[in-house]
Amino acid sequence: MRITVMGTGYVGLVTGTCLADLGNDVQCFDIDQAKINRIEGGDIPIYEPGLNSLIERNMKTGRLSFSSDIDSSVAFGDIIFIAVGTPSMEDGSADTRQVLQAAKSIGALMTNFKVVVNKSTVPIGMADIVGETITSELNTRFNSMNCERPGFSVISNPEFLKEGSAVEDFMRPDRIVLGIESSEDGNKAREMMRKLYAPFNRNHERTFVMNVRSAEFTKYAANAMLATRISFMNELANLAERVGADIDSVRQGIGSDPRIGYSFLYSGTGYGGSCFPKDVQALQYTANSNGLPLKILSAVEAVNQRQKYVIAEKISAYFDNNLEGLTFAIWGLAFKPNTDDMREAPSRVLIKELLTRGARVIAHDPVALEAAQVAFKEDLKDHPELSNQLQFCENAMDILEGADALILLTEWKEYKSPNFAQIKSLLKQALIFDGRNLYEPQIMQEQGFIYEGIGRRASPVDLLFAQSSAKAETA
Ligand SMILES: NC(=O)c1ccc[n+]([C@@H]2O[C@H](COP(=O)([O-])OP(=O)(O)OC[C@H]3O[C@@H](n4cnc5c(N)ncnc54)[C@H](O)[C@@H]3O)[C@@H](O)[C@H]2O)c1
Repeated sequence: MRITVMGTGYVGLVTGTCLADLGNDVQCFDIDQAKINRIEGGDIPIYEPGLNSLIERNMKTGRLSFSSDIDSSVAFGDIIFIAVGTPSMEDGSADTRQVLQAAKSIGALMTNFKVVVNKSTVPIGMADIVGETITSELNTRFNSMNCERPGFSVISNPEFLKEGSAVEDFMRPDRIVLGIESSEDGNKAREMMRKLYAPFNRNHERTFVMNVRSAEFTKYAANAMLATRISFMNELANLAERVGADIDSVRQGIGSDPRIGYSFLYSGTGYGGSCFPKDVQALQYTANSNGLPLKILSAVEAVNQRQKYVIAEKISAYFDNNLEGLTFAIWGLAFKPNTDDMREAPSRVLIKELLTRGARVIAHDPVALEAAQVAFKEDLKDHPELSNQLQFCENAMDILEGADALILLTEWKEYKSPNFAQIKSLLKQALIFDGRNLYEPQIMQEQGFIYEGIGRRASPVDLLFAQSSAKAETA
């Protein structure tokens, strides 16, 4: 089949490449010409395991091409995926301008039947607005002409891939959600999408067809549910510290219940990334506009904001509220492993806090250093003097020399079994703050570390933190 994908970010690039790999002819379009030039030159702007080789292979066969030419891109595909960004507006609502711009271009240029697929995460009801936008463009072009206008159907096909395993998730989806209205054009679209996704349904049917608004809602509901589990566990982790329980034991104790399951029950430094924060906010905005505020989601968001400061509070308690002149080594900057995505990464909040309080920070990440430099340039633009206190380094062990503590913020594989004896010999003191509960408190203590995780069983630092928090609250 002939496919156009509009937007070559994490979702568009993966969607286009994977569909080409299945034998379709795909043209990926982006308004960012520099990005297209980079991709065509073999320099893939995002890190996603397995993606580079797949792009290279499919470009070689000629099934996958890239373009910043809108005319040829709209003409190319019978199915056009819209996979552009929908970031948050100030008021929490989704900024749909990129989607509308894509829709406008389609309406302005299409000359044959198109299935327009909303793959971007969009507010409930957006497919109607995309349809109206296309119709309005067609009206402008065809009203005065005595010829037949091309038909189209706007459908919703939200994406559930996870950054860091996006290719794998796309190629082995646990579900494909399609929102399609029943009409002549809708039925045509349904048939074309059935054909397109047939390779994923061979083993068993994975496609759920529903009305468009239900499909749009499903995406928000999924992310809101996952964010809720994270905030729930984070809040319990903080309580576990006060009552001397170990949140990881609790996690296993509840995860073994099949009604609960083990996934997404880890406590840490709060959720980040490009999706959960903005999607939780956008769903709240929709709920508020409909006069039905979602109280649970307000709490989920508030807990998450607070959780981003938990490690900073522990550090502050340990160093008697004085971080001036201290040096902290940070392992992991990306919001999660296997990606270079720095959007809403908790590392940004913690590092800014440490710098503001007079500390020096030296940070390592296996793939996100370039993206991190861009992110911190933005974060520190109002305080450029703080950037002198921040350094990045490509070697994880090198940054430990003379540091006052190691802080772990992303659970990259290479941090899982490090040489602890070497870490101990390099640090000024054997002190680890583990924002991902990657290590076992017991083992760390046996190895002579002062170790502070999130909600792990009480250690001397836990007690110290609990006492100082209690003091702060009674003050
Ligand atoms: N990143 C994820 O893990 C993920 C997962 C599921 C769903 N989503 C959703 O998918 C959508 C895309 O997310 P992303 O992370 O890939 O975004 P992104 O910001 O990485 O990429 C968006 C791309 O769209 C391009 N663009 C903007 N306007 C355009 C236009 N009019 N025509 C063509 N290209 C245009 C931009 O230049 C950019 O390259 C969002 O709605 C997001 O919520 C993202």
